[in-house]
Amino acid sequence: MGYRVAVVGATGAVGREILNILAERRFPVDEVVALASSASAGREVSFGEDEELVVRALEDFDFEGFDLALFSPGAAISKEYAPRAAAEGCVVIDNTSQFRMDPDVPLVVPEVNREALQGFRERNIIANPNCSTIQMVVALKPLHDLAIVKRVVAATYQSVSGAGRDAMDELFDQTKGIYETRTPEPKHFTKQIAFNVIPHIDVFLDDGSSKEEWKMVVETKKILDPAIEVAATCVRVPVFVGHAIAANVEFEHELSADAARDALYEFEGVLLVDDPANNEYVTPAECVGEYAVFVSRVRQDPTVPHGLQMWIVADNLRKGAALNAVQIAEALVEDGYL
Ligand SMILES: NC(=O)c1ccc[n+]([C@@H]2O[C@H](COP(=O)([O-])OP(=O)(O)OC[C@H]3O[C@@H](n4cnc5c(N)ncnc54)[C@H](OP(=O)(O)O)[C@@H]3O)[C@@H](O)[C@H]2O)c1
Repeated sequence: MGYRVAVVGATGAVGREILNILAERRFPVDEVVALASSASAGREVSFGEDEELVVRALEDFDFEGFDLALFSPGAAISKEYAPRAAAEGCVVIDNTSQFRMDPDVPLVVPEVNREALQGFRERNIIANPNCSTIQMVVALKPLHDLAIVKRVVAATYQSVSGAGRDAMDELFDQTKGIYETRTPEPKHFTKQIAFNVIPHIDVFLDDGSSKEEWKMVVETKKILDPAIEVAATCVRVPVFVGHAIAANVEFEHELSADAARDALYEFEGVLLVDDPANNEYVTPAECVGEYAVFVSRVRQDPTVPHGLQMWIVADNLRKGAALNAVQIAEALVEDGYL
């Protein structure tokens, strides 16, 4: 038996990847509809190698009879339309930040807290975490199980695709423009992004942190353990796809780098690539199109009693968004919820 599935935001960076991954992983579908703004109605998007879907407008779409909707149209649109779809009996998996911290909405990374799914019937909505949070908690989970993570200090190196299609265009246009001696004009970003890095993702909050940094703090607590303290600095870098995180992790108990590597090696969803002497570590360009969270450069942090440092890389459009959402859908099927 297959399902009737709606992809909302299907023309965007995440939505297109959702369609790719549904097809790649042969999610059992009877029907897939691609939805976006009315401006995109009538355009075509690819579903798998040989199928094209004609985009329909979200505003006049009726979700009745649909089993599942994967939303990535931005928080304001999800706020309005996800509850409507959920009220029609369609299970919503939402990629935006809109519902993540609602106590009655599960925030799920299947390898880490699949059991949280069981609460989804309250609202019929499941939230997909922030891209940087997802890759960080996947890497932390096997180590937390061994030695209890107390505190993480994380610096992110986030690609422009994390800010969507227009942001990717801006990096491309500015880079080309600089070679043609044109002065870059920031539109989506607040500063020049080509040949630069910007410590500003989402809005700034009263305490001086950015909302992206706040998301890493509160989402890690909700997914993994409320006792974990996170101090994050989130930075946009001129890379098209692939986020990296340099993390210093403090544990309750002693954990050697070797024991951490063994646990990471065994953990589903992690690919350990860690032989720096032979230049074996992963960079964002190498993780594009991949499913895994890559962990490299695991080593002791000698400045605290029980500390490790590591480098965590993933394709933000895949594990950081679309893949995680499809894995949630697969878990719903496997656990008998759909
Ligand atoms: N990119 C990432 O790595 C990532 C990771 C996790 C979460 N997210 C979240 O996912 C969401 C989308 O991100 P994105 O990167 O895919 O953005 P994007 O490339 O800018 O795409 C936005 C999508 O939303 C659609 N949309 C805009 N207004 C709409 C409306 N009024 N009705 C229906 N659809 C509408 C757009 O359709 P049109 O083409 O018709 O405008 C497009 O399909 C954001 O909330 C983002 O925070 C992104």
